[in-house]
Amino acid sequence: MPNIVFQHADKRYDERIERYVFRDLNLHIRKGEFTVLVGPSGCGKSTLLRMIAGLEAVSGGDLLFDELCVNELPPVQRGVAMVFQNYALYAHMTVYENIGFGLKIAGIPRAERDALIRDAARQLQLEELLQRKPTQLSGGQRQRVAIGRAIVRKPTAYLFDEPLSNLDANLRGQMRAEIAELHRKHGVTTVYVTHDQVEAMTLADRIVVLSRQGLEQFGTPDELFDTPANVFVAGFMGSHRMNLVPVDEAHAPQLRLLTGSSVAALAAAGVGTIGARPEDIEVVAGTDASVQLVERLGAESLVHLAVGSAAALLTALTTDRSLAFGHARSLRVAPDKLHRFGLDGQRIAS
Ligand SMILES: Nc1ncnc2c1ncn2[C@@H]1O[C@H](COP(=O)(O)OP(=O)(O)OP(=O)(O)O)[C@@H](O)[C@H]1O
Ligand SMILES: [Mg+2]
Repeated sequence: MPNIVFQHADKRYDERIERYVFRDLNLHIRKGEFTVLVGPSGCGKSTLLRMIAGLEAVSGGDLLFDELCVNELPPVQRGVAMVFQNYALYAHMTVYENIGFGLKIAGIPRAERDALIRDAARQLQLEELLQRKPTQLSGGQRQRVAIGRAIVRKPTAYLFDEPLSNLDANLRGQMRAEIAELHRKHGVTTVYVTHDQVEAMTLADRIVVLSRQGLEQFGTPDELFDTPANVFVAGFMGSHRMNLVPVDEAHAPQLRLLTGSSVAALAAAGVGTIGARPEDIEVVAGTDASVQLVERLGAESLVHLAVGSAAALLTALTTDRSLAFGHARSLRVAPDKLHRFGLDGQRIAS
């Protein structure tokens, strides 16, 4: 169960083209940790997993498992198991055969194989389904078979590439809990890619945020949520996007309402952007803001309010169900809930 370490790692798919997916990437995934990768489409999440699995070579720098450089180590010798988004089950094989296929190829004797398959099936509640073919299974059951195939090999690390994205909300929640339980029980190093904020926040010990520019921040869910390192992470993490207000004259009324300061004062302090989460903005009596849109989310509503010009809206989360288009209100946010970013987009420590 190794630490997985990228040291000054580069990746490009075509030696003739200057475009790098990763340039000088440094990342230390700790042994036993559940690490979640998030980032916009095309930023290199799958590429990173495939490099760990050995399905893609690093173009420069090193990839280490503990102290061992694995740049040249073929996939079968790495001992990691990857679960893909599209399951990739063999249609002509039963669940039993699918789970055991890797073991058979590895030459594990029949009796030992049988014990491993039945043990995995029991953990994943697949015992009743062992003789079925993949077409006779639901999406969630297929997903469990794919996970079963990974766990029978007793890998040193698990790599998951958006494993739950094809499932409905209920099943996702259920499978999320099962994956968390699996990790809690065995503590195997896990790297997990998802586009789902809830999945990322609930499963991760630590989250890696990637952008097209590379690594943006690596920290615990709380660190990323409470103290995003820059404007990119601030705007990316969170189920409801953070309000990010540029410090310029066009946004003067919003900035005045949120911070109590003028554009000139903020600019003089080196602030380029002010951030406030919708959860941290309170809708109160007043006339500074007018309701433009109410999105009902169930217990709460996300309210879009115009402050000054109608072009620039702020969003606030509220349980007040009486709000409707055109209502006048004001907004309040505790000063310690404001996020300040410099002209370079980096967080200014408060
Ligand atoms: N085999 C390949 N050959 C050339 N370029 C590739 C190859 N695979 C991926 N890329 C490029 O590398 C970049 C990263 O791709 P990758 O699949 O890792 O992104 P991703 O973060 O997993 O995106 P998504 O969220 O859409 O799955 C993209 O620009 C992509 O077009
Ligand atoms: Mg991908």
